[in-house]
Amino acid sequence: MTTVKTHPIEGQKPGTSGLRKKTRVFMQTHYLENFVQSIFDGIGGAAGKTFVLGGDGRYFNERAAQVILRMAAANGAARMIVGRDALLSTPAASHLIRLNKTDGGIIMSASHNPGGEDEDFGVKFNMPNGGPAPESVTGAMFKRTEEITEYRILEAQDVDLSTVGETALGDMTVTIVDPVEDYAALMETLFDFEAIRALFEGGFRIRFDAMCAITGPYGHEILEDRLGAPEGSVVHGTPLPDFGGMHPDPNPTWAHELMDAMKGDDAPDFGAASDGDGDRNMVVGPQVYVSPSDSLAVLAANAHLAKGYSDGLKGVARSMPTSAAVDRVAEKMGMTCYETPTGWKFFGNLMDDDRVTLCGEESFGTGSDHVREKDGLWAILMWLNILAVRKMSVAEIMADHWQTYGRNYYSRHDYEGVETQTADAMMADLRARLNDLPGQIVQGNRIAQADDYAYHDPVDGSVSEHQGIRVIFEGGARFVIRLSGTGTSGATVRLYLESLETDPALFEQDPQEALGWVIAAAEEIARIRERTGKTGPDVTT
Ligand code: G1P
Ligand code: ZN
Repeated sequence: MTTVKTHPIEGQKPGTSGLRKKTRVFMQTHYLENFVQSIFDGIGGAAGKTFVLGGDGRYFNERAAQVILRMAAANGAARMIVGRDALLSTPAASHLIRLNKTDGGIIMSASHNPGGEDEDFGVKFNMPNGGPAPESVTGAMFKRTEEITEYRILEAQDVDLSTVGETALGDMTVTIVDPVEDYAALMETLFDFEAIRALFEGGFRIRFDAMCAITGPYGHEILEDRLGAPEGSVVHGTPLPDFGGMHPDPNPTWAHELMDAMKGDDAPDFGAASDGDGDRNMVVGPQVYVSPSDSLAVLAANAHLAKGYSDGLKGVARSMPTSAAVDRVAEKMGMTCYETPTGWKFFGNLMDDDRVTLCGEESFGTGSDHVREKDGLWAILMWLNILAVRKMSVAEIMADHWQTYGRNYYSRHDYEGVETQTADAMMADLRARLNDLPGQIVQGNRIAQADDYAYHDPVDGSVSEHQGIRVIFEGGARFVIRLSGTGTSGATVRLYLESLETDPALFEQDPQEALGWVIAAAEEIARIRERTGKTGPDVTT
Protein backbone atom coordinates (compact mmCIF):
# COMPACT_ATOMS: atom_id res chain seq x y z
CA MET A 1 0.00 0.00 0.00
CA THR A 2 1.31 3.43 -0.82
CA THR A 3 0.20 6.87 0.23
CA VAL A 4 0.57 9.33 -2.60
CA LYS A 5 1.00 13.05 -2.01
CA THR A 6 -1.43 15.16 -3.99
CA HIS A 7 -2.97 18.62 -4.03
CA PRO A 8 -6.55 19.80 -4.53
CA ILE A 9 -7.70 20.03 -8.14
CA GLU A 10 -10.22 22.70 -8.96
CA GLY A 11 -13.71 21.95 -10.23
CA GLN A 12 -14.41 18.50 -8.77
CA LYS A 13 -17.94 19.47 -7.80
CA PRO A 14 -20.51 16.76 -8.55
CA GLY A 15 -23.46 18.04 -10.63
CA THR A 16 -26.96 16.69 -11.32
CA SER A 17 -25.53 13.19 -11.51
CA GLY A 18 -22.00 12.80 -10.17
CA LEU A 19 -18.76 14.26 -11.49
CA ARG A 20 -18.66 14.55 -15.27
CA LYS A 21 -15.71 15.84 -17.24
CA LYS A 22 -13.93 15.35 -20.50
CA THR A 23 -12.23 11.94 -20.50
CA ARG A 24 -8.81 13.56 -20.90
CA VAL A 25 -9.46 15.60 -17.77
CA PHE A 26 -10.23 12.41 -15.85
CA MET A 27 -7.03 10.87 -17.25
CA GLN A 28 -4.85 13.68 -15.86
CA THR A 29 -2.45 12.83 -13.06
CA HIS A 30 -4.24 12.40 -9.70
CA TYR A 31 -7.60 13.53 -11.11
CA LEU A 32 -9.54 10.29 -10.73
CA GLU A 33 -7.58 9.32 -7.63
CA ASN A 34 -8.34 12.61 -5.84
CA PHE A 35 -12.03 12.23 -6.50
CA VAL A 36 -12.21 8.57 -5.49
CA GLN A 37 -10.33 9.27 -2.25
CA SER A 38 -12.77 12.14 -1.61
CA ILE A 39 -15.69 9.78 -2.17
CA PHE A 40 -14.34 7.41 0.48
CA ASP A 41 -13.50 10.26 2.86
CA GLY A 42 -16.88 11.89 2.21
CA ILE A 43 -18.75 8.78 3.38
CA GLY A 44 -16.65 8.32 6.48
CA GLY A 45 -14.08 5.91 5.06
CA ALA A 46 -14.18 2.58 3.23
CA ALA A 47 -12.76 0.31 5.95
CA GLY A 48 -14.63 -2.97 6.25
CA LYS A 49 -17.22 -1.91 3.69
CA THR A 50 -18.62 -3.56 0.56
CA PHE A 51 -19.27 -1.65 -2.64
CA VAL A 52 -20.59 -2.37 -6.11
CA LEU A 53 -18.51 -1.19 -9.07
CA GLY A 54 -19.36 -1.02 -12.75
CA GLY A 55 -19.74 1.31 -15.68
CA ASP A 56 -21.23 1.75 -19.10
CA GLY A 57 -18.15 0.53 -20.96
CA ARG A 58 -17.10 3.85 -22.40
CA TYR A 59 -13.45 4.68 -23.09
CA PHE A 60 -11.39 4.60 -19.85
CA ASN A 61 -14.00 2.39 -18.11
CA GLU A 62 -11.78 -0.56 -17.35
CA ARG A 63 -8.66 1.46 -16.52
CA ALA A 64 -10.64 3.59 -14.11
CA ALA A 65 -12.11 0.44 -12.56
CA GLN A 66 -8.62 -0.95 -11.90
CA VAL A 67 -7.61 2.27 -10.15
CA ILE A 68 -10.80 2.33 -8.07
CA LEU A 69 -10.29 -1.30 -7.04
CA ARG A 70 -6.70 -0.67 -5.93
CA MET A 71 -7.80 2.41 -4.00
CA ALA A 72 -10.70 0.57 -2.36
CA ALA A 73 -8.29 -2.16 -1.24
CA ALA A 74 -5.83 0.39 0.11
CA ASN A 75 -8.64 2.14 1.97
CA GLY A 76 -9.55 -1.09 3.69
CA ALA A 77 -12.70 -2.11 1.83
CA ALA A 78 -13.71 -5.70 2.57
CA ARG A 79 -15.29 -6.58 -0.75
CA MET A 80 -16.04 -5.15 -4.19
CA ILE A 81 -18.81 -6.62 -6.32
CA VAL A 82 -17.87 -5.86 -9.92
CA GLY A 83 -19.74 -6.46 -13.16
CA ARG A 84 -17.78 -8.69 -15.56
CA ASP A 85 -15.36 -6.55 -17.61
CA ALA A 86 -16.32 -3.70 -15.24
CA LEU A 87 -19.68 -3.40 -17.02
CA LEU A 88 -22.99 -2.63 -15.32
CA SER A 89 -25.93 -0.58 -16.43
CA THR A 90 -26.86 2.09 -13.90
CA PRO A 91 -30.14 0.41 -12.90
CA ALA A 92 -28.42 -2.98 -12.63
CA ALA A 93 -25.78 -1.40 -10.36
CA SER A 94 -28.54 0.10 -8.23
CA HIS A 95 -30.15 -3.33 -7.98
CA LEU A 96 -26.89 -5.06 -6.98
CA ILE A 97 -26.30 -2.47 -4.25
CA ARG A 98 -29.72 -3.26 -2.79
CA LEU A 99 -29.70 -7.00 -3.39
CA ASN A 100 -26.38 -7.48 -1.63
CA LYS A 101 -27.13 -4.94 1.11
CA THR A 102 -23.85 -3.18 0.38
CA ASP A 103 -22.56 0.15 1.61
CA GLY A 104 -23.11 1.75 -1.78
CA GLY A 105 -21.53 1.68 -5.19
CA ILE A 106 -19.40 3.56 -7.67
CA ILE A 107 -20.78 3.92 -11.18
CA MET A 108 -18.53 5.01 -14.04
CA SER A 109 -20.59 6.75 -16.66
CA ALA A 110 -21.38 10.04 -18.29
CA SER A 111 -24.84 8.70 -19.11
CA HIS A 112 -26.08 9.92 -22.48
CA ASN A 113 -22.99 12.01 -23.26
CA PRO A 114 -20.80 10.66 -26.08
CA GLY A 115 -17.85 8.46 -25.10
CA GLY A 116 -14.23 8.34 -26.27
CA GLU A 117 -10.84 9.83 -25.50
CA ASP A 118 -12.08 13.25 -26.63
CA GLU A 119 -15.57 12.89 -25.21
CA ASP A 120 -16.96 12.49 -21.71
CA PHE A 121 -16.41 10.36 -18.64
CA GLY A 122 -17.98 10.41 -15.20
CA VAL A 123 -17.94 8.91 -11.72
CA LYS A 124 -20.88 8.80 -9.38
CA PHE A 125 -21.46 7.40 -5.90
CA ASN A 126 -24.71 5.67 -4.99
CA MET A 127 -25.89 5.14 -1.43
CA PRO A 128 -26.78 1.87 0.32
CA ASN A 129 -30.40 2.39 -0.81
CA GLY A 130 -29.14 2.14 -4.41
CA GLY A 131 -29.81 5.77 -5.24
CA PRO A 132 -27.51 8.66 -6.16
CA ALA A 133 -25.86 10.39 -3.22
CA PRO A 134 -27.88 13.36 -1.97
CA GLU A 135 -26.46 16.86 -1.92
CA SER A 136 -25.35 16.60 1.71
CA VAL A 137 -23.06 13.70 0.77
CA THR A 138 -21.80 15.04 -2.57
CA GLY A 139 -21.15 18.31 -0.72
CA ALA A 140 -18.92 16.49 1.78
CA MET A 141 -17.06 14.81 -1.10
CA PHE A 142 -16.56 18.12 -2.85
CA LYS A 143 -15.23 19.65 0.34
CA ARG A 144 -12.63 16.85 0.58
CA THR A 145 -11.52 17.52 -3.01
CA GLU A 146 -10.72 21.08 -1.92
CA GLU A 147 -8.48 20.07 0.98
CA ILE A 148 -7.04 16.71 -0.10
CA THR A 149 -3.29 16.20 0.47
CA GLU A 150 -2.87 12.46 -0.14
CA TYR A 151 -4.60 9.31 -1.35
CA ARG A 152 -4.11 5.63 -0.70
CA ILE A 153 -3.56 3.06 -3.43
CA LEU A 154 -2.30 -0.50 -3.60
CA GLU A 155 0.62 -1.39 -5.81
CA ALA A 156 -0.65 -4.44 -7.65
CA GLN A 157 -1.24 -6.00 -11.03
CA ASP A 158 -4.57 -5.48 -12.78
CA VAL A 159 -7.36 -7.74 -11.58
CA ASP A 160 -8.64 -10.07 -14.31
CA LEU A 161 -12.25 -8.93 -14.57
CA SER A 162 -13.17 -11.13 -17.52
CA THR A 163 -14.36 -14.19 -15.60
CA VAL A 164 -17.21 -14.49 -13.15
CA GLY A 165 -15.99 -15.61 -9.73
CA GLU A 166 -13.98 -14.52 -6.71
CA THR A 167 -10.44 -13.26 -6.49
CA ALA A 168 -8.39 -11.27 -4.01
CA LEU A 169 -6.70 -7.91 -4.22
CA GLY A 170 -4.57 -7.44 -1.12
CA ASP A 171 -6.90 -8.19 1.78
CA MET A 172 -9.98 -7.28 -0.27
CA THR A 173 -12.26 -9.78 -2.00
CA VAL A 174 -13.28 -9.00 -5.56
CA THR A 175 -16.49 -10.72 -6.62
CA ILE A 176 -17.05 -10.61 -10.37
CA VAL A 177 -20.69 -11.09 -11.36
CA ASP A 178 -22.59 -11.43 -14.61
CA PRO A 179 -23.88 -7.90 -15.33
CA VAL A 180 -27.26 -9.07 -16.60
CA GLU A 181 -28.33 -12.08 -14.54
CA ASP A 182 -29.64 -10.56 -11.30
CA TYR A 183 -31.24 -7.69 -13.16
CA ALA A 184 -33.05 -10.01 -15.57
CA ALA A 185 -34.29 -12.09 -12.63
CA LEU A 186 -35.69 -8.93 -11.03
CA MET A 187 -37.54 -8.03 -14.23
CA GLU A 188 -39.13 -11.50 -14.24
CA THR A 189 -40.63 -10.77 -10.82
CA LEU A 190 -42.19 -7.52 -12.02
CA PHE A 191 -43.59 -8.32 -15.45
CA ASP A 192 -45.66 -11.06 -17.03
CA PHE A 193 -43.00 -12.59 -19.23
CA GLU A 194 -45.47 -15.18 -20.49
CA ALA A 195 -47.91 -12.57 -21.75
CA ILE A 196 -45.09 -10.72 -23.49
CA ARG A 197 -43.75 -13.97 -24.94
CA ALA A 198 -47.20 -14.70 -26.33
CA LEU A 199 -47.25 -11.24 -27.88
CA PHE A 200 -44.02 -11.97 -29.77
CA GLU A 201 -45.24 -15.44 -30.73
CA GLY A 202 -48.22 -13.73 -32.33
CA GLY A 203 -45.89 -11.87 -34.68
CA PHE A 204 -45.53 -8.61 -32.76
CA ARG A 205 -42.33 -6.87 -33.83
CA ILE A 206 -40.01 -4.72 -31.75
CA ARG A 207 -36.93 -2.70 -32.65
CA PHE A 208 -34.78 -1.94 -29.64
CA ASP A 209 -31.88 0.39 -30.33
CA ALA A 210 -29.15 -0.01 -27.71
CA MET A 211 -27.10 2.70 -29.43
CA CYS A 212 -23.82 0.71 -29.08
CA ALA A 213 -24.04 1.26 -25.33
CA ILE A 214 -24.54 -0.81 -22.20
CA THR A 215 -28.09 -2.12 -22.76
CA GLY A 216 -27.08 -4.29 -25.73
CA PRO A 217 -26.32 -7.38 -23.62
CA TYR A 218 -29.40 -6.73 -21.46
CA GLY A 219 -31.62 -6.43 -24.55
CA HIS A 220 -30.23 -9.58 -26.14
CA GLU A 221 -30.74 -11.61 -22.98
CA ILE A 222 -34.13 -10.29 -21.89
CA LEU A 223 -35.92 -9.37 -25.12
CA GLU A 224 -34.51 -11.99 -27.47
CA ASP A 225 -33.43 -14.93 -25.30
CA ARG A 226 -36.01 -14.84 -22.51
CA LEU A 227 -38.99 -13.20 -24.24
CA GLY A 228 -38.51 -14.68 -27.68
CA ALA A 229 -38.34 -11.53 -29.79
CA PRO A 230 -36.70 -12.61 -33.06
CA GLU A 231 -32.94 -12.28 -33.32
CA GLY A 232 -32.16 -8.89 -34.81
CA SER A 233 -34.83 -7.12 -32.75
CA VAL A 234 -31.97 -5.57 -30.78
CA VAL A 235 -29.90 -3.27 -32.99
CA HIS A 236 -26.54 -1.64 -32.17
CA GLY A 237 -26.37 -4.28 -29.45
CA THR A 238 -22.62 -4.47 -28.85
CA PRO A 239 -21.26 -1.93 -26.35
CA LEU A 240 -18.31 -0.03 -27.81
CA PRO A 241 -15.87 2.35 -26.03
CA ASP A 242 -16.91 5.22 -28.30
CA PHE A 243 -20.49 4.00 -28.75
CA GLY A 244 -19.63 3.53 -32.41
CA GLY A 245 -19.57 7.31 -32.73
CA MET A 246 -23.25 7.44 -31.78
CA HIS A 247 -24.54 9.97 -29.31
CA PRO A 248 -26.32 7.51 -27.01
CA ASP A 249 -29.17 9.76 -25.98
CA PRO A 250 -32.54 8.21 -26.76
CA ASN A 251 -34.45 11.16 -28.14
CA PRO A 252 -35.80 11.86 -31.64
CA THR A 253 -32.71 13.88 -32.56
CA TRP A 254 -30.04 11.36 -31.58
CA ALA A 255 -32.00 8.16 -32.09
CA HIS A 256 -32.91 9.27 -35.61
CA GLU A 257 -32.27 5.85 -37.13
CA LEU A 258 -34.97 4.43 -34.92
CA MET A 259 -37.28 7.35 -35.69
CA ASP A 260 -36.80 6.77 -39.43
CA ALA A 261 -37.58 3.07 -39.03
CA MET A 262 -40.73 3.87 -37.06
CA LYS A 263 -41.90 6.30 -39.72
CA GLY A 264 -41.36 3.82 -42.55
CA ASP A 265 -44.02 1.71 -44.28
CA ASP A 266 -42.70 -1.47 -42.73
CA ALA A 267 -42.41 -0.02 -39.24
CA PRO A 268 -42.34 -2.58 -36.41
CA ASP A 269 -45.13 -2.47 -33.81
CA PHE A 270 -42.95 -0.99 -31.14
CA GLY A 271 -39.71 0.96 -31.09
CA ALA A 272 -37.53 1.79 -28.12
CA ALA A 273 -34.05 3.04 -27.33
CA SER A 274 -31.88 3.44 -24.27
CA ASP A 275 -28.90 5.60 -23.37
CA GLY A 276 -25.20 5.14 -22.59
CA ASP A 277 -25.69 3.70 -19.11
CA GLY A 278 -29.18 2.25 -19.59
CA ASP A 279 -31.28 4.42 -17.34
CA ARG A 280 -33.08 6.42 -20.03
CA ASN A 281 -35.65 5.25 -22.55
CA MET A 282 -37.57 6.48 -25.53
CA VAL A 283 -40.75 4.79 -26.69
CA VAL A 284 -42.19 5.04 -30.20
CA GLY A 285 -45.06 3.41 -32.05
CA PRO A 286 -45.45 3.23 -35.82
CA GLN A 287 -45.88 6.88 -36.86
CA VAL A 288 -46.33 7.93 -33.24
CA TYR A 289 -43.78 9.33 -30.82
CA VAL A 290 -44.60 9.12 -27.13
CA SER A 291 -43.26 12.06 -25.15
CA PRO A 292 -41.55 10.98 -21.91
CA SER A 293 -44.05 12.96 -19.83
CA ASP A 294 -46.91 11.15 -21.56
CA SER A 295 -45.13 7.83 -21.17
CA LEU A 296 -44.93 8.37 -17.41
CA ALA A 297 -48.64 9.16 -17.31
CA VAL A 298 -49.55 6.06 -19.36
CA LEU A 299 -47.41 3.84 -17.13
CA ALA A 300 -49.02 5.31 -14.01
CA ALA A 301 -52.50 4.72 -15.41
CA ASN A 302 -51.77 1.12 -16.47
CA ALA A 303 -49.12 -0.18 -14.07
CA HIS A 304 -51.66 -2.32 -12.20
CA LEU A 305 -51.81 -4.54 -15.30
CA ALA A 306 -48.29 -5.81 -14.57
CA LYS A 307 -47.95 -8.42 -11.85
CA GLY A 308 -45.37 -6.51 -9.81
CA TYR A 309 -47.78 -3.57 -9.50
CA SER A 310 -51.13 -5.34 -9.33
CA ASP A 311 -51.85 -3.93 -5.87
CA GLY A 312 -51.78 -0.41 -7.30
CA LEU A 313 -49.35 2.41 -6.72
CA LYS A 314 -48.56 4.15 -3.43
CA GLY A 315 -48.14 7.45 -5.19
CA VAL A 316 -46.23 9.00 -8.07
CA ALA A 317 -43.60 11.69 -8.48
CA ARG A 318 -42.26 13.78 -11.32
CA SER A 319 -39.54 16.37 -11.64
CA MET A 320 -40.80 19.95 -11.71
CA PRO A 321 -40.15 20.55 -15.44
CA THR A 322 -41.97 17.32 -16.36
CA SER A 323 -45.51 17.86 -17.65
CA ALA A 324 -48.53 17.55 -15.40
CA ALA A 325 -49.96 14.66 -17.45
CA VAL A 326 -49.18 12.27 -14.60
CA ASP A 327 -50.78 14.66 -12.09
CA ARG A 328 -54.05 14.23 -13.94
CA VAL A 329 -53.79 10.45 -13.69
CA ALA A 330 -52.93 10.66 -10.00
CA GLU A 331 -55.89 12.90 -9.34
CA LYS A 332 -58.33 10.55 -11.05
CA MET A 333 -56.89 7.51 -9.32
CA GLY A 334 -56.80 9.20 -5.90
CA MET A 335 -53.00 9.11 -5.49
CA THR A 336 -50.60 11.77 -4.31
CA CYS A 337 -48.32 13.22 -6.98
CA TYR A 338 -45.07 14.75 -5.72
CA GLU A 339 -43.10 17.40 -7.58
CA THR A 340 -39.31 17.37 -7.12
CA PRO A 341 -36.33 19.21 -8.62
CA THR A 342 -34.58 17.83 -11.69
CA GLY A 343 -32.43 14.76 -11.02
CA TRP A 344 -33.19 11.28 -9.79
CA LYS A 345 -31.63 11.80 -6.37
CA PHE A 346 -34.74 13.58 -5.10
CA PHE A 347 -37.01 10.58 -5.68
CA GLY A 348 -35.05 8.28 -3.36
CA ASN A 349 -36.38 9.72 -0.10
CA LEU A 350 -39.97 9.50 -1.33
CA MET A 351 -39.52 5.84 -2.26
CA ASP A 352 -37.62 4.92 0.90
CA ASP A 353 -40.47 6.51 2.87
CA ASP A 354 -43.02 4.41 0.93
CA ARG A 355 -44.73 7.46 -0.52
CA VAL A 356 -44.30 6.70 -4.21
CA THR A 357 -43.97 3.64 -6.43
CA LEU A 358 -43.49 5.26 -9.84
CA CYS A 359 -41.61 8.35 -10.87
CA GLY A 360 -40.25 10.02 -13.94
CA GLU A 361 -38.70 12.96 -15.70
CA GLU A 362 -39.31 14.62 -19.03
CA SER A 363 -35.70 13.80 -19.93
CA PHE A 364 -36.55 10.24 -20.98
CA GLY A 365 -36.37 8.83 -17.49
CA THR A 366 -38.96 6.58 -15.88
CA GLY A 367 -38.64 4.13 -13.05
CA SER A 368 -40.13 2.62 -9.95
CA ASP A 369 -39.16 1.58 -6.45
CA HIS A 370 -37.66 -1.71 -7.70
CA VAL A 371 -34.35 0.19 -7.78
CA ARG A 372 -33.33 3.75 -6.92
CA GLU A 373 -32.39 4.88 -10.42
CA LYS A 374 -34.42 5.45 -13.51
CA ASP A 375 -34.51 2.33 -15.62
CA GLY A 376 -34.72 2.27 -19.41
CA LEU A 377 -35.39 -1.42 -20.01
CA TRP A 378 -37.84 -1.54 -17.13
CA ALA A 379 -39.96 1.14 -18.83
CA ILE A 380 -39.78 -0.72 -22.14
CA LEU A 381 -40.85 -3.98 -20.48
CA MET A 382 -43.68 -2.20 -18.70
CA TRP A 383 -44.90 -0.86 -22.04
CA LEU A 384 -44.67 -4.32 -23.58
CA ASN A 385 -46.62 -5.75 -20.65
CA ILE A 386 -49.34 -3.13 -21.09
CA LEU A 387 -49.50 -3.69 -24.86
CA ALA A 388 -49.72 -7.45 -24.29
CA VAL A 389 -52.61 -7.13 -21.85
CA ARG A 390 -54.58 -4.36 -23.52
CA LYS A 391 -54.07 -5.71 -27.03
CA MET A 392 -54.02 -2.20 -28.47
CA SER A 393 -51.45 -0.38 -30.57
CA VAL A 394 -49.29 2.42 -29.16
CA ALA A 395 -51.38 4.97 -31.10
CA GLU A 396 -54.61 3.54 -29.70
CA ILE A 397 -53.26 3.62 -26.16
CA MET A 398 -52.26 7.26 -26.57
CA ALA A 399 -55.59 8.32 -28.10
CA ASP A 400 -57.46 6.54 -25.34
CA HIS A 401 -55.28 8.17 -22.69
CA TRP A 402 -55.88 11.69 -24.00
CA GLN A 403 -59.62 11.05 -24.24
CA THR A 404 -59.65 10.17 -20.57
CA TYR A 405 -57.22 12.73 -19.17
CA GLY A 406 -56.81 15.47 -21.76
CA ARG A 407 -53.53 16.13 -23.52
CA ASN A 408 -50.66 18.05 -21.98
CA TYR A 409 -48.79 19.33 -25.01
CA TYR A 410 -45.14 19.37 -24.12
CA SER A 411 -41.74 20.13 -25.56
CA ARG A 412 -38.22 20.91 -24.39
CA HIS A 413 -35.91 23.23 -26.30
CA ASP A 414 -32.18 23.01 -25.58
CA TYR A 415 -29.77 25.78 -26.44
CA GLU A 416 -26.34 24.19 -26.23
CA GLY A 417 -22.79 25.51 -26.05
CA VAL A 418 -23.88 28.88 -24.68
CA GLU A 419 -21.22 30.99 -23.00
CA THR A 420 -21.49 30.52 -19.25
CA GLN A 421 -21.51 34.28 -18.65
CA THR A 422 -24.31 34.84 -21.14
CA ALA A 423 -26.40 32.09 -19.58
CA ASP A 424 -25.78 33.23 -16.02
CA ALA A 425 -26.61 36.85 -16.88
CA MET A 426 -29.84 35.78 -18.58
CA MET A 427 -30.91 33.81 -15.52
CA ALA A 428 -29.97 36.65 -13.16
CA ASP A 429 -31.94 39.19 -15.20
CA LEU A 430 -34.94 36.93 -15.28
CA ARG A 431 -34.74 36.30 -11.56
CA ALA A 432 -34.67 40.04 -10.91
CA ARG A 433 -37.89 40.52 -12.88
CA LEU A 434 -39.91 37.64 -11.39
CA ASN A 435 -41.89 39.80 -8.98
CA ASP A 436 -43.09 42.06 -11.78
CA LEU A 437 -44.38 39.29 -14.05
CA PRO A 438 -47.61 38.13 -12.37
CA GLY A 439 -50.61 39.97 -13.82
CA GLN A 440 -48.85 40.89 -17.06
CA ILE A 441 -50.44 39.79 -20.32
CA VAL A 442 -48.02 38.18 -22.75
CA GLN A 443 -49.10 36.70 -26.10
CA GLY A 444 -52.69 37.28 -25.03
CA ASN A 445 -52.40 35.29 -21.82
CA ARG A 446 -52.17 36.51 -18.25
CA ILE A 447 -49.26 35.36 -16.06
CA ALA A 448 -50.57 33.87 -12.84
CA GLN A 449 -47.29 33.03 -11.11
CA ALA A 450 -43.56 33.47 -11.63
CA ASP A 451 -40.91 32.12 -9.27
CA ASP A 452 -37.56 30.46 -8.77
CA TYR A 453 -38.49 26.91 -7.79
CA ALA A 454 -37.38 25.69 -4.37
CA TYR A 455 -38.03 22.22 -3.01
CA HIS A 456 -38.71 21.31 0.59
CA ASP A 457 -38.10 17.61 0.97
CA PRO A 458 -41.10 16.27 2.94
CA VAL A 459 -39.05 13.38 4.31
CA ASP A 460 -35.81 14.90 5.57
CA GLY A 461 -36.74 18.58 5.60
CA SER A 462 -33.82 19.62 3.38
CA VAL A 463 -34.28 22.60 1.09
CA SER A 464 -32.94 22.87 -2.49
CA GLU A 465 -33.16 26.32 -4.01
CA HIS A 466 -32.77 27.77 -7.50
CA GLN A 467 -34.08 24.68 -9.25
CA GLY A 468 -35.53 26.46 -12.27
CA ILE A 469 -37.48 29.58 -13.12
CA ARG A 470 -41.14 28.99 -13.81
CA VAL A 471 -43.64 31.27 -15.44
CA ILE A 472 -47.16 29.93 -15.14
CA PHE A 473 -50.16 31.34 -17.05
CA GLU A 474 -53.77 31.34 -16.08
CA GLY A 475 -55.21 28.07 -17.35
CA GLY A 476 -52.05 26.15 -16.45
CA ALA A 477 -49.82 26.66 -19.51
CA ARG A 478 -46.26 27.37 -18.44
CA PHE A 479 -42.64 27.54 -19.33
CA VAL A 480 -39.62 26.72 -17.21
CA ILE A 481 -36.03 27.76 -17.76
CA ARG A 482 -33.03 26.21 -16.07
CA LEU A 483 -29.39 25.58 -16.80
CA SER A 484 -28.18 22.03 -17.27
CA GLY A 485 -26.15 20.51 -14.45
CA THR A 486 -24.68 17.62 -16.44
CA GLY A 487 -22.71 19.38 -19.16
CA THR A 488 -18.93 19.26 -19.38
CA SER A 489 -18.28 22.52 -21.23
CA GLY A 490 -20.12 25.85 -21.55
CA ALA A 491 -23.76 26.12 -20.55
CA THR A 492 -26.91 24.50 -21.88
CA VAL A 493 -30.12 26.47 -21.45
CA ARG A 494 -33.17 24.25 -21.15
CA LEU A 495 -36.57 25.72 -21.96
CA TYR A 496 -39.52 23.51 -21.02
CA LEU A 497 -42.91 24.29 -22.55
CA GLU A 498 -46.34 22.98 -21.67
CA SER A 499 -50.02 23.64 -22.26
CA LEU A 500 -53.11 21.62 -21.47
CA GLU A 501 -55.70 20.78 -24.12
CA THR A 502 -59.04 19.32 -23.10
CA ASP A 503 -60.91 19.64 -26.40
CA PRO A 504 -60.78 16.20 -28.10
CA ALA A 505 -61.01 17.88 -31.49
CA LEU A 506 -57.55 19.37 -30.82
CA PHE A 507 -55.68 16.26 -29.66
CA GLU A 508 -53.86 15.59 -32.93
CA GLN A 509 -51.86 18.78 -33.30
CA ASP A 510 -48.14 19.06 -33.78
CA PRO A 511 -46.82 19.95 -30.31
CA GLN A 512 -44.65 22.79 -31.66
CA GLU A 513 -47.75 24.36 -33.17
CA ALA A 514 -49.95 23.76 -30.17
CA LEU A 515 -47.26 25.37 -28.03
CA GLY A 516 -46.63 28.22 -30.45
CA TRP A 517 -47.83 31.00 -28.20
CA VAL A 518 -45.99 29.64 -25.14
CA ILE A 519 -42.77 29.50 -27.18
CA ALA A 520 -43.32 33.11 -28.29
CA ALA A 521 -44.11 34.21 -24.74
CA ALA A 522 -40.93 32.59 -23.40
CA GLU A 523 -38.84 34.40 -26.01
CA GLU A 524 -40.59 37.68 -25.27
CA ILE A 525 -39.85 37.35 -21.57
CA ALA A 526 -36.43 35.63 -21.48
CA ARG A 527 -35.05 36.55 -24.93
CA ILE A 528 -32.95 33.37 -25.14
CA ARG A 529 -32.56 33.54 -28.90
CA GLU A 530 -31.64 37.18 -28.87
CA ARG A 531 -29.08 36.79 -26.11
CA THR A 532 -27.47 33.61 -27.44
CA GLY A 533 -27.55 34.78 -31.03
CA LYS A 534 -29.16 31.49 -32.03
CA THR A 535 -32.16 31.35 -34.32
CA GLY A 536 -33.63 28.34 -32.55
CA PRO A 537 -32.92 25.43 -30.23
CA ASP A 538 -30.13 22.94 -30.98
CA VAL A 539 -32.21 20.01 -29.77
CA THR A 540 -35.98 19.80 -29.57
CA THR A 541 -37.65 16.92 -27.75
C1 G1P B 1 -30.33 15.99 -17.23
C2 G1P B 1 -31.84 15.88 -17.23
C3 G1P B 1 -32.31 15.39 -15.89
C4 G1P B 1 -31.64 14.05 -15.57
C5 G1P B 1 -30.14 14.20 -15.67
C6 G1P B 1 -29.44 12.87 -15.50
O1 G1P B 1 -29.90 16.89 -16.25
O2 G1P B 1 -32.43 17.12 -17.53
O3 G1P B 1 -33.70 15.26 -15.89
O4 G1P B 1 -31.98 13.62 -14.28
O5 G1P B 1 -29.78 14.71 -16.95
O6 G1P B 1 -29.82 11.93 -16.46
P1 G1P B 1 -29.51 18.43 -16.59
O7 G1P B 1 -28.46 18.38 -17.66
O8 G1P B 1 -30.77 19.06 -17.11
O9 G1P B 1 -29.05 19.00 -15.29
ZN1 ZN C 1 -28.19 7.76 -18.31
